[in-house]
Amino acid sequence: METGKTIAVVTGASCGMGTEFVRQIGEQKPFIEEVWAIARNREALEKLQREVSKVRVFALDITSPKDLDTLAAALRQERPRIAWLVCSAGAGVQKTVEETGLSDLQNMIELNCTALTAVTKLCLPYCKKGHLLLLASGAAFVPQPGFAVYAASKAYVLSFARALNVELKRSARVTAVCSGPVDTPFLDKMGGKEQMPAYKKPFIASAKKVVKKALKDAERGRELSVYGISMKVTRIFCKIVPHRMIMRCMYGDKRGA
Ligand SMILES: NC(=O)c1ccc[n+]([C@@H]2O[C@H](COP(=O)([O-])OP(=O)(O)OC[C@H]3O[C@@H](n4cnc5c(N)ncnc54)[C@H](OP(=O)(O)O)[C@@H]3O)[C@@H](O)[C@H]2O)c1
Repeated sequence: METGKTIAVVTGASCGMGTEFVRQIGEQKPFIEEVWAIARNREALEKLQREVSKVRVFALDITSPKDLDTLAAALRQERPRIAWLVCSAGAGVQKTVEETGLSDLQNMIELNCTALTAVTKLCLPYCKKGHLLLLASGAAFVPQPGFAVYAASKAYVLSFARALNVELKRSARVTAVCSGPVDTPFLDKMGGKEQMPAYKKPFIASAKKVVKKALKDAERGRELSVYGISMKVTRIFCKIVPHRMIMRCMYGDKRGA
């Protein structure tokens, strides 16, 4: 299938962790000939291209079927070998379901689940022996009242990544990235660090470190990349403690206890 260049494809490349993936892959993987940087903000992608010369700009909205066709056509035409696929585009709204507008709820599901699945499906035929990094979240580990749809969408990503990793039978490796809070524009879009629950604030990580670890974990063939001791402990905690008990302690839920 592949005859063209060896490339990386990164969604959500215009800021945050996506930009950092483009930088680290572009600068540290000499065999990568092009990094296809995907996001809606063309200006930000062109700025990144001036910094990382391998960048090829794809100003696309991955929730739009028409824009997905553009990506599919470029893949058909170039027939690249995708050594790295990073699905970093994502959105979160930290409010209760009742407080959140329907379009925001739908956008979280469309972007975090549907578009991520579509980009993965389109790229998969070109990913032989490649690494797929799907950005889930520590929010995937337990239901989160007040962040319900986001956490559910990330539980989808985690489940999808793990199952796909087995389906691919090592013809390509899939790693789900489950970080806690990371210092990116994502936090500002959710109302800034001030709006975050106090217990999360001390654990805000740098995008550089989370991305570095994710790339290393993917190269080691790990199905999960969990940055930081606090998230590793959280993950184990969420595996052994009943979720209704966690929700009761953290969110004061008395139902079903
Ligand atoms: N930051 C955190 O605390 C944190 C923690 C755990 C997991 N995560 C997850 O990690 C991933 C990266 O997060 P981040 O912090 O880097 O987020 P971010 O700084 O908000 O960046 C999100 C990226 O997604 C792109 N995007 C949004 N809608 C899009 C669309 N319709 N089509 C194409 N691109 C779109 C944005 O670019 P445009 O606006 O230019 O399109 C931007 O490049 C996300 O999936 C997030 O859920 C983040």
